[in-house]
Amino acid sequence: MEKKKTIVVNMKVNGEDVSYEIEPHLSLLRALRNNYVYDVKCGCEEGDCGTCTVLVDGVPVKSCLTLAAACEGKEIWTDKGLGYNDRIAARLQKAFVECGSVQCGFCTPGFIVAGTAYLKNGGKADRHAIREAVSGNLCRCTGYNKIIDAIYVVAKEIEEGVLA
Ligand code: FES
Ligand code: FES
Repeated sequence: MEKKKTIVVNMKVNGEDVSYEIEPHLSLLRALRNNYVYDVKCGCEEGDCGTCTVLVDGVPVKSCLTLAAACEGKEIWTDKGLGYNDRIAARLQKAFVECGSVQCGFCTPGFIVAGTAYLKNGGKADRHAIREAVSGNLCRCTGYNKIIDAIYVVAKEIEEGVLA
């Protein structure tokens, strides 16, 4: 049987240099999960749900719609990596728990990544703007208000200088 063509993609994932051998058409989502980065969730795989959201060079993207091959030399951060390495993301994870923003939890990693990007880019404690920022993420359980609350709480702390 003919061996499938593969390529090697070099990236930094959650601060660590990695070289993934992948088929050229593979999405970033599949490349990450094939290499045990399981906190990136696979929902619709069609760009609708946002649970696969990761940061690529600081920008939130849907990893199911991103070719892994296009990420050569780029820096990828996921919910888990951010939580261990980024103060704002770690605070946001805690705020999700405090605000009751997690039910089944399947959408949570994507919301944390999108929310972290909002907060790190100077997003204000403005519920309307927060809703816009996470409008690409779906949640089937919470009705969204508690998710917005958590991001709002952290945005407020940043504005008040409690969280630098
Ligand atoms: S799995 Fe990527 S948007 Fe749903
Ligand atoms: S907590 Fe279940 S989908 Fe959001």
